[in-house]
Amino acid sequence: MAERLADRALRVRTTGIREWHRGVVHYNRYEATPYIALDKLFETYSLDKTDELVDFGCGRGRVIFYIHNRFGIPVTGIEANDKTYEEALRNKNAYLHRAKHIKAPIRILYGPAENYEIKPTENRFYFFNPFSIKIFRKVINNILDSVKEHPRSVDLLIYYPTAIYKQFLRKDTLFEIINKVKTPGMKDKKEKFLIYRLRQQDLPYEAE
Ligand SMILES: C[S@@+](CC[C@H](N)C(=O)[O-])C[C@H]1O[C@@H](n2cnc3c(N)ncnc32)[C@H](O)[C@@H]1O
Repeated sequence: MAERLADRALRVRTTGIREWHRGVVHYNRYEATPYIALDKLFETYSLDKTDELVDFGCGRGRVIFYIHNRFGIPVTGIEANDKTYEEALRNKNAYLHRAKHIKAPIRILYGPAENYEIKPTENRFYFFNPFSIKIFRKVINNILDSVKEHPRSVDLLIYYPTAIYKQFLRKDTLFEIINKVKTPGMKDKKEKFLIYRLRQQDLPYEAE
């Protein structure tokens, strides 16, 4: 009920689940981040006017609309499921009716997140258990390539972090956990955010 009310305030429809058809093994189902988790996250974590966020596997777009509405920053969502993507576009139209005054752009793209070319201005990256570790690795390596070319600090906001995502980031990257935010009232220990940061000064520079 609370989820539907929060949706209504944004003029969107993002509740429910959509499974992939059998045979799709690397892509996970649609389910939105609970609003209560987003509210809790942003009690302690903030986004700046200069930040730009990408949600890899944006589903029906809850996170990008919430963040656009709350922080007024440019947001991009990428979604590989055609039906879910269409729903996200419908939500964008409905949302923009009420949020015309917020000038920051909202982009929703159809396609695999692993093929997305990261823009040099993008610095905040959101994941809610969208895909297998194989794809996650590829996306993180795309982020790291972009950072190598255009040095900047970047944060990963990871909801429902799996052991395998955590292990990869700990062992194979220089990302460090800077905060953990639990979702109130949830029994499952994974119902939390881990925020990882890669600071520009920590980037390894190659000798000329
Ligand atoms: C758990 S949902 C998260 C939705 C949204 N980020 C949120 O937190 O409300 C994961 C989404 O990722 C999408 N997805 C799975 N694999 C993908 C891929 N390789 N590229 C883009 N989207 C993908 C799924 O279709 C699904 O909508």
